[in-house]
Amino acid sequence: MDGDVSTEAGAAKPSRRGGVPAISCEGVTKRFGSELILDGVSLDLTKGSFTSLVGPSGCGKTTLLRIIAGLEQADSGDLITGDAKSSSPGVRPSLAVVFQQGSLFPWKSVRRNVAFGLELAGVDRGTIAERVDRTLEMVHLTGTAKKFPYQLSGGMQQRVGIARALALDPDILLMDEPFASVDAQTREELHDELLEIWERTRKSVLFVTHSIDEAIVLSDEVVVMGARPGRILRRFDIDLPRPRTEESARILPAFADLHHDIRQLLVSSTVDAFNA
Ligand SMILES: Nc1ncnc2c1ncn2[C@@H]1O[C@H](COP(=O)(O)OP(=O)(O)O)[C@@H](O)[C@H]1O
Ligand SMILES: [Mg+2]
Repeated sequence: MDGDVSTEAGAAKPSRRGGVPAISCEGVTKRFGSELILDGVSLDLTKGSFTSLVGPSGCGKTTLLRIIAGLEQADSGDLITGDAKSSSPGVRPSLAVVFQQGSLFPWKSVRRNVAFGLELAGVDRGTIAERVDRTLEMVHLTGTAKKFPYQLSGGMQQRVGIARALALDPDILLMDEPFASVDAQTREELHDELLEIWERTRKSVLFVTHSIDEAIVLSDEVVVMGARPGRILRRFDIDLPRPRTEESARILPAFADLHHDIRQLLVSSTVDAFNA
């Protein structure tokens, strides 16, 4: 990370959930012009854990994700990366990002879209072919490798985006409302697919959404953000049994309780912000 944000690698502090942190930010502050967007945000992403960031539109979720991804510069704060237990602390974890929509190259086939990051990294052709096949299979798109994005539904395009990120085999997967633009039924199918992929890969995931349901179904931990300025309100451990499906999670009484608590918190913080 550039600028005033220092990046330390291999810091040995345990994450708040008690696991090894994959990446943490401490006291991250960001302004756009005179507006304070993020106000001292601290967030740990536990290694091998699925963390969701939930909050109202405009509270700074994307800005925080972009800072973590190194696509945006914070004004102050620390980004602490690296695995303290690894034999080579100091190695920055690799990151891949899945965006909301429209991030595919329209002139490239599905296969070439998925291969893109690997080609850029200079990976040899045999390895690329093998990785692309494996990730397309993971997102159930094996039959569409030769198609172009315009020939696919919105849900399929998002699966190509996920395959492209997974093909890089990143330590950390950052996802910014990847299912926001697909219909409700497709979104549920994509949740089940992502849950299955997570079971297979156990990636450290930071998933940004404004859907409370989506956050609970997918996550080990839900971090709730408030707006104006963007800040962390509370974190919720989601101890619903795994492996999960959309259906198996939703029918649990604990799901309804968590939904209620998170919603209450968001509603009261929005009212507070409105009255401020
Ligand atoms: N590049 C930018 N320049 C100026 N303001 C921005 C920029 N990016 C985001 N913002 C503002 O920062 C706030 C947070 O935006 P964002 O991080 O996209 O929120 P969220 O993802 O939670 O909806 C919004 O008020 C938005 O208008
Ligand atoms: Mg956003």
